[in-house]
Amino acid sequence: MIVQQEVSRRFADGAQKVEPELCCPVDYDQDLLAILPKEIIERDYGCGDPSRYVQPGDHVLDLGSGGGKICYMAAQLVGQGGRVTGVDMTDEMLALARSYQAEMAEKLGEDRVRFVKGRIQDLAQDVERLEDHLKANPVQDLASMEAFDRWQQQQRHEQPMIADGSIDLVVSNCVLNLVEDGSKQQMVEEIYRVLRPGGRVAISDIVSDAPIPQSLKDNPELWSGCISGAFEEEAFAEAFREAGFVGVTLDKWDEKPWQVVEGIEFRSVTLLAYKPALFDPTDQGHAVIYRGPFLHVTDERGNIYPAGERIAVSSDTFDLLGREPYAAHFIRIPPGQPVFPQPFTLEPGTRRPVEVSRGSGQKSAPGKPLLSIQPAGGSCTPGGSCC
Ligand SMILES: C[S@@+](CC[C@H](N)C(=O)[O-])C[C@H]1O[C@@H](n2cnc3c(N)ncnc32)[C@H](O)[C@@H]1O
Repeated sequence: MIVQQEVSRRFADGAQKVEPELCCPVDYDQDLLAILPKEIIERDYGCGDPSRYVQPGDHVLDLGSGGGKICYMAAQLVGQGGRVTGVDMTDEMLALARSYQAEMAEKLGEDRVRFVKGRIQDLAQDVERLEDHLKANPVQDLASMEAFDRWQQQQRHEQPMIADGSIDLVVSNCVLNLVEDGSKQQMVEEIYRVLRPGGRVAISDIVSDAPIPQSLKDNPELWSGCISGAFEEEAFAEAFREAGFVGVTLDKWDEKPWQVVEGIEFRSVTLLAYKPALFDPTDQGHAVIYRGPFLHVTDERGNIYPAGERIAVSSDTFDLLGREPYAAHFIRIPPGQPVFPQPFTLEPGTRRPVEVSRGSGQKSAPGKPLLSIQPAGGSCTPGGSCC
């Protein structure tokens, strides 16, 4: 069985008529659906609502955009200056999504959505361009095959469909499970590649609560039906951590399974993750205090934070803990005096002596941005009104 062909065949049908067994009820924002064409809303094969994580100005990439529902919802949220790109490999789905592009551009006041043909495990390759090239330059012998290989490498390098670091938010709705198991790691690495540093991921997908037996893996209907290729619950988050993502969070976990097959529960979850913004593992005297309520927590990098203790961290960890989803949980204390950068060699959970940060003059409140104040002896005098 060639997974991709099975999946494309099933969703080509699903683009032309509603496939009720592929539908999973989702509570979308009705205000965003209000301007969407009825046909797009009906051909909904999602299992969650990643559009909830879109912010104004974002360039959003929707993996497996289908009829374009999430793209057209996101387009309303990104507003002017934002952009949305949908990637899908099935011609019929792309045709459906594109058939409403002009109408939606009119409603939105500008054309901020585009749909491209590609495989989500290979976001550098524009498949429409590849198909055009093959029509004009068919591969017939070894020489033409080598020429094709060279052309493909050059395309990836010089004109990637989705460029490195070009995306603010990657969303996907019930598609990752449709990618063959051998390509899943590459798919997560591709998501990492296309995100800008500090970029975000919001993915709704189906996960299983136990390993999926080979008998289910060999069933084409179950593959294209979003069952056979589901990540196992723990492996889903782990795949993102392994690729270098941080702040990996299961934001939604449906209590009620979508389906139970041979006793295995398949349910919809929504995973959030972040690409680190900064890589600077030097020691410059930074410290953080974990606010609690747990006795201690550990991050993806193995750093340990006992509650209430002033713990030494590297510059990039200090930056990371000031961002979502960590910011509300930590008090961040910069060094009191500039510290000459040196390699960070302290054991995880090492305390930072108070002398290093004394006088740093920062204070913060849960969930609020840090407030900078002048160091003692500066223009902010005791009893003054500026602190
Ligand atoms: C379950 S539907 C979800 C569609 C859409 N996200 C929604 O919410 O309705 C899966 C879609 O992903 C596309 N797809 C599946 N595997 C893909 C892959 N490897 N690369 C690109 N698109 C893929 C299918 O063509 C189909 O349109």
